[in-house]
Amino acid sequence: MTAPTPLIAGNWKMNGLTAALDEARKIAAGAGAAKGRVAICPPATLLQRLGQAVAGSAVLTGGQDCHPEPAGAFTGDVAAEMLADAGAALVILGHSERRAGHAETDALVAKKVLAALRAGLEPIVCVGETQAQREAGHALEVVTGQVRGSLPAELSGKAFCVAYEPIWAIGTGLTPTTSQIEEMHRAIRATLRATFGAASDPAPILYGGSVKPSNAAEILHAAEVGGALVGGASLKADDFLEIAAAL
Ligand code: 13P
Repeated sequence: MTAPTPLIAGNWKMNGLTAALDEARKIAAGAGAAKGRVAICPPATLLQRLGQAVAGSAVLTGGQDCHPEPAGAFTGDVAAEMLADAGAALVILGHSERRAGHAETDALVAKKVLAALRAGLEPIVCVGETQAQREAGHALEVVTGQVRGSLPAELSGKAFCVAYEPIWAIGTGLTPTTSQIEEMHRAIRATLRATFGAASDPAPILYGGSVKPSNAAEILHAAEVGGALVGGASLKADDFLEIAAAL
């Protein structure tokens, strides 16, 4: 099996004004020491300037969402081509905050994945269960169902990541146990294998949800964890670099 290419990606969500570029510069100064890839996904307003601020470093940039269409009358939306034009290499798709706040379905996320591929972006496709779904014993079936529904066949042979982000662990300080993470990541890997065969083996499965310097090493060394999607802790360069160093 081809080993996945690890990635530590920071999801800045709707945070970051011009002053935040200083944090990005600090991240860029330290990112070269990380064993895997390091990325920052800032709000779209900062994407181009952040790319310029980290130019020449190991830091990649990414968007947080894209529209399925390449252009048109879609007020307020951003096309995958626009993200690529602003220097992005990656794009987060199907984040739970978009699934919940913007009614995004697996089918829509799959269309956005096609848009990302069309624009030459590497999609980071997010999946994850609610607390109620886990308590009802449905976490595995919900998440593997999201993997099947959100990843189109066209991903075969392309660079992509899956991010497992249990919704109850996002921004709460709660994290699953290592064995819960490993159980889910193994189930996602098995689903990818069943769908794409060995072509998906290089795709890392990231963990996201309250990753911080104090828990990063344990999470990142768990079976089938190929990196992290980091929210709050990615806004502080020192914390984010400590997480990246734990790879
Ligand atoms: P936190 O790291 O703030 O829990 O956010 C996780 C997340 O949603 C990353 O996409």
